[in-house]
Amino acid sequence: MSHNIVWHNAAVSHNERQQLNGHKPCLLWYTGLSGSGKSTIANAVDRMLFDLGCHTYLLDGDNVRHGLNRDLGFDDASRVENIRRITEVSRLMLDAGLIVGTAFISPFIADRAQAKALAGDAFIEVFVDTPLAICEQRDPKGLYKKARAGEIAHFTGISSPYEAPLSPDIHLQTAALTIEQAARQVVVFLQQHAIICQ
Ligand code: ADX
Repeated sequence: MSHNIVWHNAAVSHNERQQLNGHKPCLLWYTGLSGSGKSTIANAVDRMLFDLGCHTYLLDGDNVRHGLNRDLGFDDASRVENIRRITEVSRLMLDAGLIVGTAFISPFIADRAQAKALAGDAFIEVFVDTPLAICEQRDPKGLYKKARAGEIAHFTGISSPYEAPLSPDIHLQTAALTIEQAARQVVVFLQQHAIICQ
């Protein structure tokens, strides 16, 4: 709790940052199963935006779990805490004026709703919609095989739920798209919503 802590107003305003950056900040919240392509697509979008001169940063599930969230596991409470921390870090980055990408399974609707509540209009939900059967067939890290064998507990899609978005802002049906096409769909959305103007 914030006893004896006083909020300081920033000397540099959001508008000033926006003008310097040449684009609005936003939070591209990618959600989907393990192996759905979240990181790959988010990185492709990040590359395109960077090449357009945007100021971006990508928070990636596995990487963040090596550092900030290394103390967390995959039971429900840990996943909730994982997403809470990511949301708070994203807010700081939004405040800095960045186009932030987050690539986490983020399986629970309530947690994504919480991120949306905190980020407000800046929140853009991107559903990386890859059917479980395809993720399991790809199995890039061999984790589905281990989960089926009972060697990993609480594995999303196998022994832990994934609550798909009901009305995502961007719906990427990856089975019918190349990585380039999926990434382009995100960039076009940002152009159409005047977040970037290039
Ligand atoms: S989240 O559910 O808390 O949002 P997050 O995106 O951070 O998950 O981490 C998911 C990644 O951790 C997966 O892509 C996979 O590589 C790895 N992982 C290890 N154990 C599990 C598990 N039980 N369920 C899901 N992913 C797991």
